[in-house]
Amino acid sequence: MRNIVLSGFMGSGKTTVGRRLADLTGRRFVDTDLLIIKKAGMSIPEIFNARSERYFRELEREVCAETAAQQGLIIAAGGGALTFAENADVFKKSGDIVFLDVPLEVILGRLKNDTSRPLLARPDRENAARELYEKRLPVYRSSAAYIVDASADAHTVAQNIIKLLHIKT
Ligand code: S3P
Repeated sequence: MRNIVLSGFMGSGKTTVGRRLADLTGRRFVDTDLLIIKKAGMSIPEIFNARSERYFRELEREVCAETAAQQGLIIAAGGGALTFAENADVFKKSGDIVFLDVPLEVILGRLKNDTSRPLLARPDRENAARELYEKRLPVYRSSAAYIVDASADAHTVAQNIIKLLHIKT
């Protein structure tokens, strides 16, 4: 059974939609960020601060390969994971990549009080997010097999994915 890989910018709802999809389909849910935290024994801001983004990306690459080697999973991939061709390629072999498309303004509202994302922990947060979003959007789109409007609530988005991919519930 192929994996379903949820892709998208920080705050696009990959984790909440993924959990909901897992509930609705009875499949197992995994989140690459949580697996990285487990592997490193520290939080994501700690990994970035105590080590480096480069180290984080190395762990991310390992976790992508390890989850892609399994079957039937719902995988929430961290927002940077699918911007690397190597991760996209490994996921494509065993799964269908679904891009959760959410306008930047909605994302900015959702992440307003967030402190868990080191890439946005800076005074020019909104500009940094905008720049990254614009750079990544075409990459997310081109690696995805499916693109889903994900501005709605997680339950609606999960149901739309089930319909679109003809998943059994
Ligand atoms: C990142 C997104 C985060 C996390 C890390 C880097 C990114 O995951 O992997 O902070 O590069 O966009 P979420 O998309 O789950 O927030």
